[in-house]
Parts: sequence; C-alpha cells; structure tokens
Amino acid sequence: MTLPSKARIVEVGPRDGLQNEKTRVSTAVKVELIARLGRAGLKCIEATAFVSPKWVPQMADSAEVMAAIERLPGVAYPVLVPNMKGLEAAIAAGAEEVAVFGAASEAFSRKNINCSIAESLERFRPVAEAAHRHNVKLRGYISCALGCPYQGEVAPAAVAEVARALFEMGCYEISLGDTIGVGTPGRTQEMIAAVARHVPLKKLAGHFHDTYGMAIANIYAALEMGVAVFDAAIAGLGGCPYAEGAAGNVATEDVVYLLQGLGIAPGIDLAALAETGAWIAAELGRKPASKTALAILAKESAR
Ligand code: HMG
Ligand code: MG
Repeated sequence: MTLPSKARIVEVGPRDGLQNEKTRVSTAVKVELIARLGRAGLKCIEATAFVSPKWVPQMADSAEVMAAIERLPGVAYPVLVPNMKGLEAAIAAGAEEVAVFGAASEAFSRKNINCSIAESLERFRPVAEAAHRHNVKLRGYISCALGCPYQGEVAPAAVAEVARALFEMGCYEISLGDTIGVGTPGRTQEMIAAVARHVPLKKLAGHFHDTYGMAIANIYAALEMGVAVFDAAIAGLGGCPYAEGAAGNVATEDVVYLLQGLGIAPGIDLAALAETGAWIAAELGRKPASKTALAILAKESAR
C-alpha cells in the first residue's frame, strides 16, 4: 500500500487541549504555548474558540489570545466558531481561518451546540457564506465519527452525510473526529471509505482522541487510505467538555515521531516539541501524555 508522500499536522493543543482543563491557564501562557509550537515548526496551530463563555469558560479570552499572538509567516492560526456571533468576533480579532463544528450524532450535537444536526447545518450556512465573502478559510469538524458518548454506535453513512453537507458548503477540509477515542483501525477505514464516496480523500483529516490507546494505529490506518492531515495536541492534552470520560487528543510528539519515521513530515523539531509539551504539562501540574516525549526527555536527562 502506498502512503501519502507528505503529511500535515493541525496542532489543536491551545484549543482542544485547553478547553477542558480545570486548571486555569492564563492568556499569557496560551500565547507562549502558541509561540513555542510555531517555533518548533508547526504550520497550523488552532489558537482558540469563539464560543459562548457560558458553555466553555476556558475559551473566554479568545479575543485577547488573538490580539497577543505573534503570527509567524507561513503559519495559520485557525479558530473555532459555532455561529455568526463567533464568526464576527473571530474576524474582528483578525482570524484568517475558522472552523465550524458539527456532529454525526444527534444526541452529541444537542449537548455540544444545543441544536439538531439539521439545525447546525442551517446555522453554518451563513457562517460559510460570510467567511467566503471575507476571504476567510473555512474548515469543518464532525464529532462522533466513530462513536458517541450518548448514543453509542454511529453509522459511517451518517458521518458521510454531514461531511457531504460541509464540503458542499465550502469547507476546504473536513476533520473526522473520534471524539471519545473508541475507534479501531478497521472501523476507521470503513468510516473513511464511506465518507470518501462523497468527499475527496485529499479533503479529509483525522482527529483522534486516545482514550483506548488506538489513535496512532488509527492514524496509520487512515494514512493507508490516503488521508494525509492529522489533528494532534501537544502533550496529548484535550477532550471535550461535552464528552465526559474522553481522553486527550493523540499527542503531537507521537504523531511527529510516526510521520518522521515514515519520512513524510519534515521540518518539525521533535526535541523542541517534547520540551514544549513538558513545559505546558508542568503548567497543568502533570507529565506529558506522550510516550515519545517521555522517551526523549529521559534520554536528555540521562546525558
Ligand atoms: P445557546 O445557549 O443555544 O446559544 O448555545 P444562544 O444563541 O441562545 O446564546 C446563549 C448565550 O451565549 C447568549 O448570551 C449569546 O450572546 C452567547 P446571553 O445573552 O445569555 O448573555 N453566545 C456567544 N458568546 C460568545 N461567542 C459566541 C456566542 N454564541 C452565543 N459564538 C452555542 C449555542 C453554540 C453558542 C453553545 O452551545 C456553544 O458555545 N457551544 C460550544 C461548545 C464547545 O465549544 N465545545 C467544544 C468544541 S467542539 C470539540 O471539542 C470537538 C472537536 O474537537 C472534534 C472532536 O473531537 O470531535 C472539534
Ligand atoms: Mg477534539
């Protein structure tokens, strides 16, 4: 099987990683995290979310974060927006890329964004049109692509249906989220095959949480299908406040180790990432949830 010749990472640590943290993270630390990730060579860093602060207080400083970050040339700093209010605030804060986020599960859609899947798509349509008018790039997420914390199994056809709608709306890429990390490689490939009947494989990304330790295996399974973009969070931070029990995202350090081992993710400084992961994990009072990072750091300290 031929793997893609180049893979891309979307770093979601500052957003997915910090949206679920009980420990308060200051705006200054978020800004420093984004700067370190950029200096390590990551080219797409999801910076924050313009969502309701009543729903996700951890992202309440989104405008301050966007105002304070240094934007490195060639690096994208997308943000989440659930509706027009979020889009308008994101544009006012200088965002050049936004992401809408829907779900393949009715129950999760209701819990996460307080509407049905059909209503969410209606809500995203004007967001897509306005983003297009303002020359703002639009990405789309689909949560619960491999299972839902409320309704259990999710049919690949349901994921494909939402992916088709988001793609037709103008999303340049659709990120398929295993929100609760229950997927396995076979099911991942089955789901991707169903989606790829409606959306070109080149337009798909994988977003794997690592609850059952399957994220790296699922990424490899997705690579085998031709998917070449993966979301990951530094130190394996992350989770969704509306998906209790879900572990963090797959750790960026582990994904970089995998992709560099395959020779398809050049230009990323893995040692700098491991250091960054250790630093942000320490800010949160723990160790990085990345085996790669722990191995690199142990080697460093043994020197
Ligand atoms: P709602 O309560 O139905 O909305 O929530 P509303 O329109 O009735 O507004 C309620 C209040 O929120 C109002 O304020 C609005 O002004 C305000 P009030 O009048 O009561 O003072 N509001 C906003 N404030 C700031 N920015 C906004 C905004 N919109 C409304 N954009 C809503 C609906 C969508 C707003 C809410 O449910 C929400 O913000 N949800 C976000 C939940 C979230 O962020 N979840 C985590 C991200 S998704 C994820 O992690 C999954 C992903 O990683 C992929 C995966 O792993 O699967 C992407
Ligand atoms: Mg997520």
